[in-house]
Order: sequence, then C-alpha cells, then structure tokens
Amino acid sequence: MRKNKIALKEIVSYAKKYGFIFPTSEIYDGIHALYDYGPYGIHLKNNIKEYWWKSMIQINKNIIGLDTSILMHPKSWKASGHIEKFKEIFLYNKRKNYSYRLDFWLEQIFKRTSKGDKVVCKKFGKIKTKKNNLKKRIIQYIDDNIVFKKYKKILVLVKQLKQITNSKDQWNYLYEEKLMFKIDFKQQTIYLRPETAQGIFTNFLNVQNIRKFQLPFGIAQIGKVFRNEQMARQFIFRMREFEQMEMQFFINHKEEDKWFKYWKNQRLKWHLTLGLGEKKYRYFEHEKFAHYAKKAYDIQFNFPFGFKELEGIHSRRNFDLKQHEKYSNKQLRVFDKENQRYYIPYIIETSVGIDRIFLAILSASLKMEVLKTKTKRILLKINPYLAPIKAAIFPLLQDKRLIAYAKYLFNSLKTSFLLTYEENDSIGKRYRRQDAIGTPICITVDFKTLKDKCVTIRYRDSMLQERVLIKNLKQAIKQETSIKKLVTKFLML
Ligand code: GAP
Repeated sequence: MRKNKIALKEIVSYAKKYGFIFPTSEIYDGIHALYDYGPYGIHLKNNIKEYWWKSMIQINKNIIGLDTSILMHPKSWKASGHIEKFKEIFLYNKRKNYSYRLDFWLEQIFKRTSKGDKVVCKKFGKIKTKKNNLKKRIIQYIDDNIVFKKYKKILVLVKQLKQITNSKDQWNYLYEEKLMFKIDFKQQTIYLRPETAQGIFTNFLNVQNIRKFQLPFGIAQIGKVFRNEQMARQFIFRMREFEQMEMQFFINHKEEDKWFKYWKNQRLKWHLTLGLGEKKYRYFEHEKFAHYAKKAYDIQFNFPFGFKELEGIHSRRNFDLKQHEKYSNKQLRVFDKENQRYYIPYIIETSVGIDRIFLAILSASLKMEVLKTKTKRILLKINPYLAPIKAAIFPLLQDKRLIAYAKYLFNSLKTSFLLTYEENDSIGKRYRRQDAIGTPICITVDFKTLKDKCVTIRYRDSMLQERVLIKNLKQAIKQETSIKKLVTKFLML
C-alpha cells in the first residue's frame, strides 16, 4: 500500500467533490475567503463542536456554557479595545501595486526552526543581533500603537532589514486596515463580533448571579465571528467568517502560571486525542501579543503549507473585566473570602477556530492508497466518532428480499446513529464511496442473512470483514463510533 502526502489544492478539490466544503455563492463566482459547509462537512464540523463542548462543559463541574449574540452594544468594543487596536499594518509596494502584512513579512524574514521559537538567520554573529534588534524595535512600535507616528522610522528599519536579508521588495509606505466589519443600525454603527470572548465578559455578572461560582471557574462558548482579513487565503485557514470555540477561565491572579500551564497542556492533549499524530503539533511562544494579552502560546499544526497557529492560549489578566467595569459602571468582581474584599479575577483564555481543526483533520487524514490489487482508494482515515456518517447499510444485490431486509435494518437503527443506505452500483464501488467520506463501518445484507440473522460488517481502515448477529449490531456500531470512547481517551491521557 502506498501513501502520499496530500497538497492543499488536492484537499480543496476533494472537499468540494465529496460534499465537505463549497465556495460560497458559487453560482455567482463566489466571494474570496468565504465558504459553505456541505452535507458531509456539516456533520464533521458538528462532531468537532460536540467533542469540544463535552470536553469543556460535561467533564468539568466548574465550567458552564453560553450562547451570546453576534451583535453587541458598540460600547463593548470600545471597552475591549478592538475599535482602537484591532487592525493590521501593511507594507505597500507602489510599482507592483502589492501589499504585504507587516507581521507576515517579518515572520518570513525571520524563518522559524521546527522548534518553533528560535530565530534562524542566513548569516550569524553581529548581523543576527542587529536583525533581532531591528525586529524588536518594529514590534515595539506596533505594540505601542505608535506605528503612524513612527512610520518613517519603521520604513528605515524595514529597509535595513531588507539589506541584511538581500530581500528585493521595494516597500513605499505603510497603511492600516481595521479588522472589524461595521453595520448600520438605527443611525449608529455597530460591529460584527471578531471574537466570542466579549459576550462572555459582558455576561459575567449574570452567570455569577445564577451559579455563585468560587474561583476558579470557566465560561465556554461556540459561535460565529467575523474579521475583515486582508490577506485571507489558504482555503478555510484564514476566512472572513468563521467559528470559534473559546473558554474563559477566571482565576486568582496568584495562580496565573499554574492555570496557564494547565490549560496549555490540556488543550494539546485534546488535540492529540484526534489521532492526527504527535509530530504534527508544536507550541509557539509569542513575542508580540494581542492588545488584551500579557502572555500567549499558540498550539501550531503542520498544515500542508507548514506549521501555523491552530489554537491560542492567552493570559488576558484582568484587562477585559477592568475595561468593562470602566465603560459600564458595573462591578465585575468576585468576593475573596480570605481577604474579605471584592476583586477582579484574572482570565486564562483558550481559543480555537473550528475551521482550522477541520482543515487539520482533512489534511492529516486524507489518504490516496494503492491496494495490493493495484486498485486505488481514497480514504478519509478519521476518528470513527468524527465521521460524518457512522455506518452504511447495503443489500448485497438488487434483490427485493435483500432490499427489504436492509431497509428494515436501516429503520431499526436510524434513531441511534446517522446512517446511509445504498443499493446502486457494485458492492466494491459502494465501499469506495464510503471510504472516501470516512464511514467507519459498512454493513451488508446477503442471502445468508435471511437464514442466519447475521450481517457482514466491513471496517474502513483494515478492510477486514466479520459476521455479526443482527441483535449485536447496535452494540458493535456504538462500540466503534461512540463519543464516550474519545472523551475517555482524553481523560486518560
Ligand atoms: N479571543 C482570542 C482570539 O480571538 P485569535 O488568536 O485572534 O484569538 C483564535 O483567534 C483562534 O481563532 C485562532 O487560533 C484560529 O484557530 C482562529 N482564527 C483566527 N482568525 C481566523 C480566520 N481568519 N479564519 C479562521 N480561523 C481563524
């Protein structure tokens, strides 16, 4: 059996052909960086969400969930700092009429090693130090939000960096783009949320009133977010509309390091249970933080275009609640019994894009295999729980009695599992179609079934077949595809 590494363009065409992801409004030629999830994609996406939700809410007695609205009071975004600071800085090349995101350009100039946090230079010694200093100064200007006061200085630094690295790019000026989409609402401007986190912070009091939690406790949310990305590319990796799964963990500030480490480990463990391979992941420590963060690690994944951010773990400290207190005049505090005072807790955030997990799963699980018989098969080798369809039921041939029996089986199992029924084409072709969408089990009704009340189960990965009594069928599918198995694996790791 031969296995090949899959390129991004093959994943894009597979995703469309097999009903996972379509370009949005395709009949009108689509819109850049917006996608629709197809009939199989939607199930895979929902299964990822369910697994995350259970791993957060069900197994932690001190984490609860919310579903807050996408449109929020505009003051929320003033308080959160997004109106002022949520933007990207671009370098513009006049001759080529081409822009590049400054942080991406810096990242490219400072190619990273596989360890993730070391800077590799073409030349060493003094030049390396000089380069690092130049980069630090540029990042400082970005962090201090004084890019436009200092932009001439930055261009000089960029020019010096260019000379050291022999880069041929001719950058003429810098400009900024705000990342939040605006909409008009009753004569005022409101925004499509760029993160779900703020809905959690603005509900902090409501949750406290309901649950009277002691620290530490968490609030989790899954939802759509929108960002006016200027360099949206790489399929569903960077989109303008995407979905996040975020958890805000409220802690005593003295325990910041403990809980930061805990969630950094927990989140990597969670990803590892998906079975995409340990080597595909690495940590990346940030030097440059988002305006709300004081400490940040990414869990990166080795996508077809290299290691990139999959999930962020941030210490937001008390930035957000402090800001919302200031703008709302409401106290967003917890009571400290020991010191008999109210105070604003620190927050450790875990934030991951579902679409990026989806792309990670497709890119690591899609295999093109050449079998011993020299025939080819496309195989989506995903965890059976994540599979869009849990089992396919076939009559061996287009025989009335076999069809009736297979349909009866489908009806008796459909309330327990998401199944599919097929009777067209040869059994071999039906297997190939199910392998390609990752269905872990195919069940065939043949003439023997009518006598011995057994069916043939064929497993996706091994292609092994076994006879199973119909009365044991439900248990066999459950055993193979239940979420319990995955959650238990997560707890044991
Ligand atoms: N609340 C913190 C926050 O939003 P972020 O690093 O900007 O942090 C968190 O985003 C996660 O959201 C990222 O790790 C990534 O998985 C996902 N994400 C961010 N921008 C995205 C985009 N344009 N398209 C798809 N996913 C994106």
